[in-house]
Amino acid sequence: SVLYVLNGPNLNLLGVREPDIYGRETLADVQALCERAADGASVVFRQTNHEGELIDWIHEAREKASALVINPAGYGHTSVALLDALKTLTIPIVECHLSNPAARERFRHRSYVSPVAAGVVSGFGPFSYELAVKAALRLVQERRT
Ligand code: DQA
Repeated sequence: SVLYVLNGPNLNLLGVREPDIYGRETLADVQALCERAADGASVVFRQTNHEGELIDWIHEAREKASALVINPAGYGHTSVALLDALKTLTIPIVECHLSNPAARERFRHRSYVSPVAAGVVSGFGPFSYELAVKAALRLVQERRT
């Protein structure tokens, strides 16, 4: 099975961007963590700063993925188009954040992704991704049994 792990805007700067909030580990570190957590399943791990590209990748996942982990970053708080794209998926979706948006500014409390996610993992830094990958693979397995 193929797991898509998609990352939204500014996450390319992980490790140097607001390290007090997001930590010192880079997105490459997070990718390695996801690959280890996937335990043999193949992982397609990508990041983009462009809303339309994120949506194109979600469309691609319709054909190719058995589950999706997504850190929508800022677009999660703003993008109806992202929600609409996610609504076209039938595979399990796990929303993932490094920080805990619910404990931050009010404008981060709304998520356009959460209504279509099987679950949300937030607040554990890169470990959020590890948990999200494990949860996504579990959901895929449950569907098969
Ligand atoms: C984030 C939280 C969002 O509020 C923020 O816009 C991000 C990163 C996180 O992983 O903690 O860019 O998704």
